[in-house]
Amino acid sequence: MSACLPARANVQRRNDAKIIAFFIAFLLACCGLEATAAGPGNAPELMGVCATCHGDFGQGGARGEYPRLAGQSEKYIAKQLQSFRARKRINIPMFPYTEERELSDEDIGIIAGYLASIRLPTALPVFKGHEDALTRLQMMEKVMIVPRAEGDIENGGKIYQEACASCHNKNGRGRGAYPMLVGQYTNYLQKQVSSYRNGERPHDEEDSRGILGTLQDSDIRDILAYLTSIQPRD
Ligand code: HEC
Ligand code: HEC
Repeated sequence: MSACLPARANVQRRNDAKIIAFFIAFLLACCGLEATAAGPGNAPELMGVCATCHGDFGQGGARGEYPRLAGQSEKYIAKQLQSFRARKRINIPMFPYTEERELSDEDIGIIAGYLASIRLPTALPVFKGHEDALTRLQMMEKVMIVPRAEGDIENGGKIYQEACASCHNKNGRGRGAYPMLVGQYTNYLQKQVSSYRNGERPHDEEDSRGILGTLQDSDIRDILAYLTSIQPRD
C-alpha cells in the first residue's frame, strides 16, 4: 500500500502545477496582459489542465476511463462541458474543472474548437530518418487505434446501420451534436450505454434511450465490436 504513496504525491504535484499554470493563463486572459491569451492560441494552455486525465493530445487514457476528446465534434464537446458545469451530466472527477470560475463560456468555445481540430492517426507513422528520438516518440504516442472488441460484427453492423447511423453517421464519426463513436474506447462507450439504460444520462431529446433500452446486452456488445472494426486506416 505505502509503495503507492510517492507515486500519488507525484501525480498530485503534477496536478497542482497544471492547476497553477491554468490559473496564470486565466489571469493573463482576464487582465489582457497578453494579446493572444484569450485567442485560440491559448487553447494548448487551457488544455494543460485537461491533459492530466485526457492525455496531451486529447487521446484519453487508462484504457477508456478517460474518454478520447481529439477529433470529437466541437458542438458536442461544448454541450458536454456545459452539462457538466450545470450538473445535468454528473462527472465527479471533472467537477472542480468545470466550475464557472474555472471554465467560462469563452474558454469552453476555445477548448471545444481546439480538441475537435486534433487529428490522431490510425496508422503507424513512417519515419523519414531525420527525426530525433523525442519527435519519434511523440509521433508514436499520437497513434490511436482502439483494440478490436469481441462480438458478432455482422449482427452489430446490421443493428448499428438500422438503429444508430441516422444520428451517429453511417461511418460512426458523428456530426454536430451527435458524437463520434468510432475511435472511442470500447469501455467508455459501454459505460455510457449502461448509464443511458439506467436513466442516469439522457441519451437524446427524442428519447433514443428507447432504442438502447430495446436491445439485448449481446446486441450492444456486437455494435461495440462492429465500431472497432470500421476504424479508418489513415
Ligand atoms: C481528473 C480527471 C479529469 C480532468 C482533469 C478532466 N477530465 Fe474530462 N472527463 C473525465 C472523466 C472521468 C470523464 C468521463 C465521465 C464519464 O464516464 O461519464 C470525462 C469526460 C469528458 C468529456 C465528455 C466526453 C464524451 O465523449 O462525452 C469532455 C468533453 C471532457 N471530459 C472534457 C474535459 C476538458 C475540456 C477538461 C479540461 C478543462 C477535462 N475534461 C478535464 C476526467 C477528467
Ligand atoms: C435520434 C438520434 C440518436 C440515435 C438514433 C442514437 N443516438 Fe446515441 N446519442 C445521440 C445524442 C444526441 C447523444 C449525445 C447525448 C448528450 O448530449 O449527452 C448520443 C450519445 C451516445 C453515446 C455516448 C457517446 C459519448 O461520447 O459519451 C453512445 C455510446 C451512443 N449514443 C450510442 C448509441 C447507439 C449504440 C445507438 C444505436 C443503438 C444510438 N446511440 C442511437 C443521439 C442518438
